[in-house]
Order: sequence, then C-alpha cells, then structure tokens
Amino acid sequence: MASRRTNLALLALLIITFLTGLLSWAIGSSLDRWIVIAHGVAGLAIVVLAPWKGVIVRRGLARRRPGTGTSIAFGVLVVTSIAAGLVHVTGIVRWVGPFSPLGIHVATAVGALVVGIVHVVQRPVRPRATDLSRRTLLRSGAVLGLGAVGWLSAAGVLRLVGAPGADRGITGSLEHGSGTPADMPVTQWFNDAVPRIDLSTWRVQLLQGTRQLSVDQVAAFGDTLHATLDCTGGWYAEQDWSGARLDRLLEEAQGSSILVRSVTGYSRRFPRSDASALVLATHAGGEPLSSGHGAPARLVAPGRRGFWWVKWVSAIDVDDVPWWWESPFPLT
Ligand code: HEM
Ligand code: HEM
Repeated sequence: MASRRTNLALLALLIITFLTGLLSWAIGSSLDRWIVIAHGVAGLAIVVLAPWKGVIVRRGLARRRPGTGTSIAFGVLVVTSIAAGLVHVTGIVRWVGPFSPLGIHVATAVGALVVGIVHVVQRPVRPRATDLSRRTLLRSGAVLGLGAVGWLSAAGVLRLVGAPGADRGITGSLEHGSGTPADMPVTQWFNDAVPRIDLSTWRVQLLQGTRQLSVDQVAAFGDTLHATLDCTGGWYAEQDWSGARLDRLLEEAQGSSILVRSVTGYSRRFPRSDASALVLATHAGGEPLSSGHGAPARLVAPGRRGFWWVKWVSAIDVDDVPWWWESPFPLT
C-alpha cells in the first residue's frame, strides 16, 4: 500500500476512534454498544496498519529533520493508548497505581490528539481524487474487516479464558461493587476532592434557598430506584438508591432546566422534564452514602454516565437557561 494512503487511512481511523470514544462517554443509551464496538474495530484497524506504517516510520527516522521528536512522541502516545485500551478490555488489571487502564487510555489519547495535529501539519499528506478508487475502497474495507476480526477474536479469547473483561457492559465498563456500595471505587472528575461535610448542619438549598432540607428530611421521602452508575473511569455498579425524587422536591417550580450544584462548585444541568427520573439519594443499598460516594446526598441520574451523578449536592435550582447550555464534559 502506498505510504501516502496508509497515512490517510490512519488519519481517518484516528478521527473515527476519537469521535466514537468521546461519544461513548457522552451518551449512556443502548446506542453505546454499537459506538463502543465501532470504536474497538477502528482502534484495532490502526493496529492492522502497523506493518505498513512501520515502513514509513523507518524511512522517516532515517532522515532526521525538524518534527522527528513530535513524531516519536506521537508514536509513544498512540502505542500507550492502544495498549492501555487493550489492558482495560481484559478486565484483569484494574489499577496501575492510582490510575485505571481506561483512564490512562483516554488521557494518552487526548495527548495524542494534540501531538497528532502537529504531526499531520508537519508531515502533510495531500489526498488525490484517485484515492477514492474502487481499489482503495476495497482495501479500506479489508483493513476494517481485519479490525473486526481482531475485535471478535479478542472477545472470543476473553470468553475462552474466562477473563473478567468478557462481561463488560455495553459502554465497555467493568462491573465493580454491584449490591455492595462500599466496594465501589471512589472517583471524581479530575480536580475535585472529597470534601469534609458536617451531616448535622448540612442543608440542601432548593429553589434559591426558599426551601432547605436536612439529610433526614431528604431520606424521609423514601423514593427508591434501582439504577446503574457507569463511571467514565471504566467501571459500573448496580445499586438500590433511595432519597427524594426531584419532581417531589421541586414541585411546581417552572423553568426549562434544573441546575444541580455540589459543595465543591461542580455542577450539571438537566432538562426540567427529567425531574421525575432523577433522585437526590442519601442511601445506597440501604446504608447511608459514604463521603467518597457523595454523602450527605448525591444525584442519581439513570441512563447517564457517572459525571452527571453530582456528589455532595449543595443546591438544586430551576431556571430558564436551556439544559444543553454547558460544556458536554465538565471542565473542572
Ligand atoms: C497511528 C498514527 C501515527 C503515528 C504513531 C505516526 C508516527 C510517525 C513516525 C514515528 C514517523 C517517523 C518520523 C518522522 O518522519 O517524523 C512518521 C512519519 C510520517 N508520518 Fe506519521 N504517524 C501516524 C499517523 C500519521 C498521519 C495520520 C499522517 C498524515 C495524514 C502521517 C504522516 C507522516 C509522514 C508524511 C511521515 C514522513 C514519512 C517520510 O518522510 O518518509 N502520519 N509518523
Ligand atoms: C487515539 C485515539 C484512540 C484510539 C486509537 C483508541 C483505541 C482503542 C482500542 C484499540 C481499544 C480496545 C478495543 C477492544 O479491543 O474492544 C479501545 C477501548 C476503549 N476506548 Fe479507545 N481509543 C482512542 C480514544 C479514546 C477516547 C478519546 C475515549 C473516551 C473518551 C476512548 C474510550 C474507550 C473505551 C470506553 C474503551 C473500552 C471499549 C470496550 O470495552 O470495548 N478511547 N480504544
């Protein structure tokens, strides 16, 4: 395969893996299964192209020039990312120091995006009309087909050896602590840390503080819900959560969205119409939440990834800001 086309194919595959990876994090619906499979297939198709890219790399490295360092850094990041993705998929190694393999996978992929843009700018490849020939399409199909074969073989091997990764959820997350909340890992979005909160003085401020409830008052609503917390760090757990449904807390308050804020300053917005599906939980599995899992109260947002499940809730308000008026992923 011409090296120009190999590089173009890699570019297309990198874009696909990056977008499907991000989508798999953003959504929490049944569509995730297909997005995650497409992600795995495209990711493995990059591995399929490795022998061809190897030839390009050897030739490129023989001619040292500005940009070689960037190319090598890009290579290291992509290889680490793919290796960490595969380690996650096995489910055998859950932590590498304080990091999950999936965390390493995503962090190095984001690093690779930045360095990769520089690489492509420094080593530009111009597409030609003939790149859309039948032959190229057939080859592209073959590369993706081999990626799919790789994905299916990996799934088969995991099943055969009984690796924990064989039972990954539809988002690719591994089961961890279902039914036993104390076993769930404690994770939060980047720079948040577990705050110290005095349960006896804590009050959740509802609707600009016009209503304040203690932890016992929230618990007294007794609304229960069986829901799966699926963390973007790569694990999920099913629990029985209990507390107060947001439609009961917010009653008739009018507005287009609900803003749920944490003591830490972290916040997420939801459509007003979701209120009856959301629970401000004080308990999981019949036990009060631990600090790490969001005590005194955390949000339970079924069908949404973990970063929507705001912990250590301090305030819940309704206003007219559209629910989508926030960064798709939290920035802090
Ligand atoms: C899996 C992703 C990729 C990795 C890990 C990677 C890595 C590398 C490395 C280590 C080199 C050799 C050092 C150098 O010449 O600077 C190289 C060369 C090169 N890469 Fe990439 N690259 C990737 C994707 C791409 C893409 C998407 C493009 C462009 C669309 C591209 C275009 C080039 C070109 C034009 C060369 C120089 C080849 C030569 O001078 O003979 N690469 N790449
Ligand atoms: C350079 C970009 C990326 C590459 C090359 C890549 C590649 C891969 C590969 C090869 C796997 C293993 C797939 C399997 O065998 O099933 C994987 C898994 C995974 N990646 Fe990525 N990835 C990239 C970026 C991302 C990003 C940005 C995210 C999320 C924000 C992400 C999320 C995931 C998830 C959730 C899995 C687990 C999927 C499963 O369990 O089947 N990836 N990735």
